[in-house]
Amino acid sequence: MKNKTETKENQMWGGRFSRGPTAIMEEINASIDIDKRLWREDIAGSKAHVAMLEATGIISHDDKTAIDQGLNQIAKEIEGGTFEFSKSLEDIHMNIEARLKDIIGAPAGRLHTARSRNDQVATDFRLWVRRACDDTQAALKTLMHALATAATENADTVMPGFTHLQTAQPVTFGHHLLAYVEMFARDASRFSDARKRMNECPLGAAALAGTAFPIDRQATASALGFDRPTANSLDSVSSRDFALEALGAASITATHLSRLAEELVMWTSPHFGFVTLSDSFSTGSSIMPQKRNPDAAELVRAKAGRIIGSLNNLLIVMKGLPLAYAKDMQEDKATTFEGFDALALALAAMAGMIGDLKPNKEAMKDAAKLGYSTATDIADWLVRVLDMPFRDAHHVTGAVVALAEKKSVTLDQLALKDMQSIEPRITNDIFSILTVDASAASRTSYGGTAPDNVKQEADRWLAALK
Ligand code: ARG
Repeated sequence: MKNKTETKENQMWGGRFSRGPTAIMEEINASIDIDKRLWREDIAGSKAHVAMLEATGIISHDDKTAIDQGLNQIAKEIEGGTFEFSKSLEDIHMNIEARLKDIIGAPAGRLHTARSRNDQVATDFRLWVRRACDDTQAALKTLMHALATAATENADTVMPGFTHLQTAQPVTFGHHLLAYVEMFARDASRFSDARKRMNECPLGAAALAGTAFPIDRQATASALGFDRPTANSLDSVSSRDFALEALGAASITATHLSRLAEELVMWTSPHFGFVTLSDSFSTGSSIMPQKRNPDAAELVRAKAGRIIGSLNNLLIVMKGLPLAYAKDMQEDKATTFEGFDALALALAAMAGMIGDLKPNKEAMKDAAKLGYSTATDIADWLVRVLDMPFRDAHHVTGAVVALAEKKSVTLDQLALKDMQSIEPRITNDIFSILTVDASAASRTSYGGTAPDNVKQEADRWLAALK
């Protein structure tokens, strides 16, 4: 790249310039490589704008028709891959407008009446982010469906529940999966909340102050599916909190995905052996023939970095920017696209992994039996049957666990007389609650892990997700 190279002055704004930009200036200024992805939104925005310009008598019917047809042709060219994007035309807005002039000639010059690239890009970008929110919600629903389906099949598959990653109490695998369904459902609702707030149309704010032309902002807003026009022209062109909010929701979703991904990584390790990922979501090692690596899960876990990074990126770009538009804001798109691309891929990969993973029910149950996981059940039995205060029962159970540990046996293998050496009132009846199945089945409180409850919840979700 030669930084001394001077090009012809820009055909869109070059009127007051005697020379064009150097190559470096063009390189830093152009955004076409990134924002060409906004072409559909840009054409939709322009069509809404010219329809309104005609309806309000600002441009003639013939000019409107010519512009509309030209835009249709451009859409076909871009779709068909024949459109030539040019860096010297900076961005998608000017690339399309310049091509329009090639195709229809003079009427093209009327398209930009009562509009600026500032409100144009704000509108295009809102449309893009709005669709990204919709797509993300749909992808979340697909994932939730896969999780709820696996939950119905595993409503009574007992596994160890952990706190501090130490064995805590038996739970069911279905219950564990439904925990993520709840999390992803809240994520989906965050995207719909964000969508409601962003669904106002900035088009017509023009450069920053509004316009003297008698435009109809209600008309363009409703043509583009917005609830209403934005109320303040300065805010319209200088706010990107809609994208920040969407990336915030994306970051929380990515955090949830990374937790599930991490659990898949642990569960597929031979040290756990709780689940097996299908061949399509595992990879081998080039040196260790026995390996079956959960690469997709690890990459979903890592994508959180990229997604949270894009939120940070845009927060830092926006921080301290004075009103109204500043070119800094052109950097909003690369990072937002990157964040949503990563999220879409992570959601699809996770849905794929969940959809065909195989639970190893025996291994899960065996693991549930480790770590004295039914100790709380003993304490609860002492409270229920012997009417002990819970604190005392906790203490007695602690002694029972210590004895089992000393004798290297599990709680249900400890002899009755050994238990009675600690609390003489314990009877044989206590053994009925010591299995991991009984423990899980007993947790029937609202939101608890009992298989009947899990089955009902999984069915409720499957019906809701239809
Ligand atoms: N490419 C620009 C962006 O994405 C479009 C708006 C440019 N406006 C301007 N006044 N230079 O932000």
